[in-house]
Amino acid sequence: MTNGPAMQNFQLPGEQTVSLMAISDKEFDLMRGLIYQKFGINLSDEKKSLLVGRLQKILRTEGFQSFDQYYENLLNDKSGRAISKLIDNISTNHTYFNREKAHFEYFRDHALPDVLTRLKREKSTDLRIWCAGCSSGEEPYMLLMLMQEVMGEEYRHFNAGILATDISDRILNTAKQGIYPVERIEALSDQQKRRHFSRCGPEHVQVSEEIRREAVFRRFNLMNDRFPFKKQFHIIFCRNVMIYFDRETRDALVRRFHAATEQGGYLFIGHSETLGREQPLYEYIIPAAYRKR
Ligand SMILES: C[S@@+](CC[C@H](N)C(=O)[O-])C[C@H]1O[C@@H](n2cnc3c(N)ncnc32)[C@H](O)[C@@H]1O
Repeated sequence: MTNGPAMQNFQLPGEQTVSLMAISDKEFDLMRGLIYQKFGINLSDEKKSLLVGRLQKILRTEGFQSFDQYYENLLNDKSGRAISKLIDNISTNHTYFNREKAHFEYFRDHALPDVLTRLKREKSTDLRIWCAGCSSGEEPYMLLMLMQEVMGEEYRHFNAGILATDISDRILNTAKQGIYPVERIEALSDQQKRRHFSRCGPEHVQVSEEIRREAVFRRFNLMNDRFPFKKQFHIIFCRNVMIYFDRETRDALVRRFHAATEQGGYLFIGHSETLGREQPLYEYIIPAAYRKR
């Protein structure tokens, strides 16, 4: 155990002094080991102060005297609430509508029409799309808007919709509401804004009920060794999630995605992420988009 609370004082110009509980090297190693083991998130030494900042509120409101004490509590909590609160506070949820828009254009113009053609040939109406690491919901809602645009009336003849998962309960609750600050939809066309959103107070908009009801939001940890899905997906989006994983974790996850994808199905990852040049599982189509061989 480390000694009593170690506090550091921080003061911004014109503001009150705030006391932050400091973390020792040993405590940081324990915390990052646990975070890596549970969520696959790999925190470098540079992320130490970020971690300290993001966890202050929990330490203060729950009365922990040190990170060591907090760590012990995380290990002993059998309810799962403490670990869930931990990920709620450390996950980076940055996202917005039409982010990395070349992917949405490819989805609308190529991937989705290709899958629909195949389904029609097979006389199937079962279209399965998974958005993994969906954060506050902009990505799955964006995909749903495009699906309805492409499919029109035909949409309701399909068993379509989107499975949208994330590790953080807090962010999933935001996603379900579908309420966003106006600037979050800036990258959409006027027609998309008019068709799919309504005003919700002076500075917010809400995604239409017609779109919201088509998204199924679930908590799911991508570190789970086995994916529990009975059928394979035609398209998987997992963008800007693996950026926090090391190579070994990413490669293992990509193998699980591969097993969970239909032959010829698609995988979209973030533009700053890569599957690695030598991997034999997927063929490259456009930057950060791949197809199962
Ligand atoms: C930066 S957001 C990406 C949002 C969206 N996909 C995009 O590209 O804009 C990353 C999301 O991954 C989630 N995440 C991180 N580790 C995860 C894990 N092990 N399992 C599931 N989701 C995870 C985080 O909670 C966060 O919401």
